[in-house]
Amino acid sequence: MTTFQSRVFSGVQPTGNLHLGNYLGAISRFVPLQDQMESIYCVVDLHAITVWQDPAELTRATREVTAAYLAAGIDPKKAIIFNQSQVREHAELAWIFNCVARMGWLKRMTQFKDKAGKHAENASVGLFAYPNLMAADILAYRATHVPVGDDQKQHLELTRDIAQKFNNDFDEQIKELGLGVPNPEPSHESPEEIFFPLTEPMIAGPATRIMSLRDGNKKMSKSDPSDLSRINLTDDADTIAKKIKKAKTDPDALPSEVDGLEGRAEADNLVGIYAALSGKSKADVLSEFGGQQFSAFKPALSELAVEKLAPMNGEMTRLMNDAAAIDTVLKDGAERASAIAEPVLHDVRRIVGFLEARRS
Ligand code: TRP
Repeated sequence: MTTFQSRVFSGVQPTGNLHLGNYLGAISRFVPLQDQMESIYCVVDLHAITVWQDPAELTRATREVTAAYLAAGIDPKKAIIFNQSQVREHAELAWIFNCVARMGWLKRMTQFKDKAGKHAENASVGLFAYPNLMAADILAYRATHVPVGDDQKQHLELTRDIAQKFNNDFDEQIKELGLGVPNPEPSHESPEEIFFPLTEPMIAGPATRIMSLRDGNKKMSKSDPSDLSRINLTDDADTIAKKIKKAKTDPDALPSEVDGLEGRAEADNLVGIYAALSGKSKADVLSEFGGQQFSAFKPALSELAVEKLAPMNGEMTRLMNDAAAIDTVLKDGAERASAIAEPVLHDVRRIVGFLEARRS
């Protein structure tokens, strides 16, 4: 191999309440990539259990994320869709990365600090090691491109650090076994030949950062106690319309320029949602709606949101009534994913020096 094959990998956690933020920041961005390069989209159930999940609900949510992938337009014939636990290589490589990554690196992860809060002593060890598993997801396929929301940026930097340390620590073995790929960016820290690529982050811009409908300074989140704060992908047309109607705003009319949104977090968020759903820029949206009151803008936003989301909701409902069909997609995807990850892990075992006795 002379270069790394271009390959996309991304994942979504099956933890219930998929919402507009997941759709605009992640899932909808996966769809066009499937026509550009080999694409692998994972339902990360191993990540989900870093915090307690009711088992039956985990199974249901795994199918629901799969249904959302399919309803959004990911074609399981083109892209590989599967759930993480069905491909053993993720857990195996994560263990090796637990031994590559340093405590200090993980202690800096802001997501762990946010999720564990004041009770870090009671957090699971898995929650702390979460980013190592994410690195394993990506690198088990030697994926080169990873589309994610901007909250995952720090985890992707850690993935690059892990790849780099592995490439350095095992430099000699990689060369000796002839498993290296010429390094596109060699430096004094990075050898001429490497085994794991330094993955390219594809971070969604701030335009796709969707905030709570009740507080424009908080991210839209599945864990917000108020269901009015988010639009769930399972919400029907009436619910979507009701939530937009109740969304927090300020008393002023919309500005005609983007600058005028500064300091108006709620207005900014609703304009951003309109822009993302319509594929326009905020400037375009404001040139259309500038000077209008929310009483006029909200019905337009509601109509657009229903037009874009209701068909997806219908398709998800239809798919969720056929669990067997969803499971078939996941099984087929897991087989295709394994076919890529197995040879990578075979090489990793040789590089690390694990003895593999023939079992015949
Ligand atoms: N941590 C990601 C999130 O919460 C999900 C994820 C797990 C992921 N593994 C991944 C994303 C690998 C991209 C690549 O959004």
